[in-house]
Amino acid sequence: MTILPILIAPDPKLKIKAKKVDKVDEETLKLMDDMVETMHSANGIGLAAPQVGALKRVIVVDVSPRDEKARPIRMANPEIIWVSEEDELREEGCLSLPEQYAEILRPKNVRVRYVDHENEIREIDAEGILSVCVQHEIDHLEGTLFVDYLSALRRKMIIRKLQKMQKLAGANT
Ligand code: NI
Repeated sequence: MTILPILIAPDPKLKIKAKKVDKVDEETLKLMDDMVETMHSANGIGLAAPQVGALKRVIVVDVSPRDEKARPIRMANPEIIWVSEEDELREEGCLSLPEQYAEILRPKNVRVRYVDHENEIREIDAEGILSVCVQHEIDHLEGTLFVDYLSALRRKMIIRKLQKMQKLAGANT
């Protein structure tokens, strides 16, 4: 498995809608496995293919506690097919927006249909952190970042901070 470079906002690739996967073939499976490796090495709980520059509807999530065995879920073409009436406010971060956090309001629970790593159609009911994580990753497939839910002013401030951080990082290498 390969650790892939993660794109940082405002990379324009993060704003493009990803394309459906026809079949979870060897190539898609390799992408899924590389994404799991990349997510774990970055201490993330979710990663979407556009974040590694692949414009495919593929996400991986793993919300298992760090001291336990990893339990990654690989999803192709994930779709939210039901949302709870109740919403919940939770703090979110993103590997493409390092060190930036904000509280985002989303449906508390969701049901997701997806194609798994063995090309089987599956459904899961997600609650708590898994629910937030899956919704956040599916947003990436639409080119939506969590900062898009914030006011234009706050979003600009965060993006400017990231640009400054990247300039500094570039100056140090
Ligand atoms: Ni993210």
